[in-house]
Amino acid sequence: MAAHQFAVATAVLSCLLALATFASCNTEGDILYKQRLAWKDPNNVLQSWDPTLVDPCTWFHVTCNNDNSVIRVDLGNAGISGPLIPDLGGLQNLQYLELYDNSLNGTIPATLGNLTKLISLDLYENQLTGEIPATLGAISNLRYLRLHENNLTGAIPTSLGNLTSLQELKLQKNELSGSIPSSFGNLKTVLILKLNDNMLSGMVPLEVLSLLISGNLTEINIAENDLTGTVRSSGFRVTAIIQDKLKNA
Ligand SMILES: *[C@@H]1O[C@H](CO)[C@@H](O)[C@H](O)[C@H]1NC(C)=O
Ligand SMILES: *[C@@H]1O[C@H](CO)[C@@H](O)[C@H](O)[C@H]1NC(C)=O
Ligand SMILES: *[C@@H]1O[C@H](CO)[C@@H](O)[C@H](O)[C@H]1NC(C)=O
Ligand SMILES: *[C@@H]1O[C@H](CO)[C@@H](O)[C@H](O)[C@H]1NC(C)=O
Ligand SMILES: *[C@@H]1O[C@H](CO)[C@@H](O)[C@H](O)[C@H]1NC(C)=O
Repeated sequence: MAAHQFAVATAVLSCLLALATFASCNTEGDILYKQRLAWKDPNNVLQSWDPTLVDPCTWFHVTCNNDNSVIRVDLGNAGISGPLIPDLGGLQNLQYLELYDNSLNGTIPATLGNLTKLISLDLYENQLTGEIPATLGAISNLRYLRLHENNLTGAIPTSLGNLTSLQELKLQKNELSGSIPSSFGNLKTVLILKLNDNMLSGMVPLEVLSLLISGNLTEINIAENDLTGTVRSSGFRVTAIIQDKLKNA
């Protein structure tokens, strides 16, 4: 028997066995159930996440497409805490991952870069630590990347400049350091860019400022950082650019 025939036969057999034991043969359900077990859920919002059902499409806070594949997980402000498991990167048709305003901690798994159908990644207002994975730059359909109000550290990955569908990039109120990537000059579709309240240093790349003219940028907030030529201060606003006071102004 050829290798691929054997693989198909094995997959079918394990699925039949799974059905026979009333376990799910849907790997997306397995992934979400594993995530449920990794979280604390004091409000029991995940009670309907029953791994014995054929697929997760009837679970609350989960939405599927017509092929019974998960396209949304909506758990904003749900009271959940704990880590994001790397297996989430296996939800291959996921378009919306809405997990904002919870108490998620640990790092953002690099595997989320495999979610190439993702339109919105909302992990803001949690307690996530570590670096922003450079792999997120591979999600070419991403329109909303909102990671603000976490405890993210390290430099902003240059690869985020590859996100040429982006409308909103919100990374404010973290502990990000290093300089603003000049690759952000490629983000011609971005309307809102918020990088304020971090520890960013160096010059604001001209490529980024030029987005106000050549791109769709309407608001850029870079205040409360350690950028060259400015002194830290709050609430200084110039129509579109919000930055710290100029040193000699
Ligand atoms: C996340 O929070 C829980 C509960 O406070 C804690 O036990 C765990 O060590 C934390 N994990 C990380 C990676 O900080
Ligand atoms: C997903 O991403 C990780 C890390 O970026 C990679 O190592 C892994 O091979 C990917 N998995 C799949 C199924 O593509
Ligand atoms: C995370 O950030 C918040 C808000 O900036 C801060 O109050 C808290 O001390 C930080 N926690 C850690 C573990 O760094
Ligand atoms: C994304 O950006 C990085 C750094 O800017 C670059 O090296 C890489 O080739 C880009 N990847 C893709 C898939 O465009
Ligand atoms: C700006 O936005 C408009 C409308 O959403 C879009 O058609 C246009 O392509 C965008 N411009 C750039 C440079 O992306």
